[in-house]
Amino acid sequence: MSTAPRLAPLVEAASARYRSAGLFAWNFARGKLGGDPMFAGILAHGLLAGRARLLDLGCGQGLLAAWLLAAHACHAARRDWPAQWPAPPQLASYRGIEINPSEAERARRAFAAEPGAGLHIVHGDIADVDYGSADAVVILDVLHFIEYAAQERVLARARAALDRAGLLLLRVGDADAGVRFALSSAVDHTVAVVRRGRWPRLQCRPLRAWEELLARLGFTSRSLPMSAGTPFANVLLVAEPR
Ligand SMILES: C[S@@+](CC[C@H](N)C(=O)[O-])C[C@H]1O[C@@H](n2cnc3c(N)ncnc32)[C@H](O)[C@@H]1O
Repeated sequence: MSTAPRLAPLVEAASARYRSAGLFAWNFARGKLGGDPMFAGILAHGLLAGRARLLDLGCGQGLLAAWLLAAHACHAARRDWPAQWPAPPQLASYRGIEINPSEAERARRAFAAEPGAGLHIVHGDIADVDYGSADAVVILDVLHFIEYAAQERVLARARAALDRAGLLLLRVGDADAGVRFALSSAVDHTVAVVRRGRWPRLQCRPLRAWEELLARLGFTSRSLPMSAGTPFANVLLVAEPR
């Protein structure tokens, strides 16, 4: 899992804002933005192009916002931007909701230098917090941490937060993917034990079941493999309201 050389400047630019949030936050940002193909994939496929108001459920330390802000700056400066990629979104507002107070605090510190930039981190549970409305809702590697019925309520509320032109990006592990899925789960368990000192009860579904759930809740979806270069079984579902 190494960063393609052409993306290294973008990864460095996005990670730099985490210096103010501490060494852990900075190094985590560099590792995750450089090693997880999802971040480059979102830009390369233009998935959020033209979406100005984002709602990020389970935002962690706000990596997606940092990534999109750096992408916009690189693209605007015509510097370090792959020629074949479409223009990135220009964020008008970003709202991240995060249950872990340490993660939320790291995100807040990273964005503190731009108080008027429309970046808001809410410390709370995505099961409770008001979603308002958004052009795109993103839920990346989060839903398996909450119980099945709550997952369905979150997705139904995400649908209600979007108008007909809206978009949902949902990354999940495919529980039918055998060893690669087992490996993703092992990593999630380990991280939860190390960071929170407890063994989580993960509530996962096969890809087919996620797709059926999205269809039942009023979305049309397509799936993009989103684990190239990693041993995991992650899939990004790109879902549009019907
Ligand atoms: C694997 S991390 C992914 C973080 C972020 N989406 C990203 O891709 O960088 C999962 C995050 O979901 C958060 N989370 C889990 N359950 C949550 C809930 N009920 N409400 C809000 N955040 C939650 C965790 O605290 C963690 O930060």
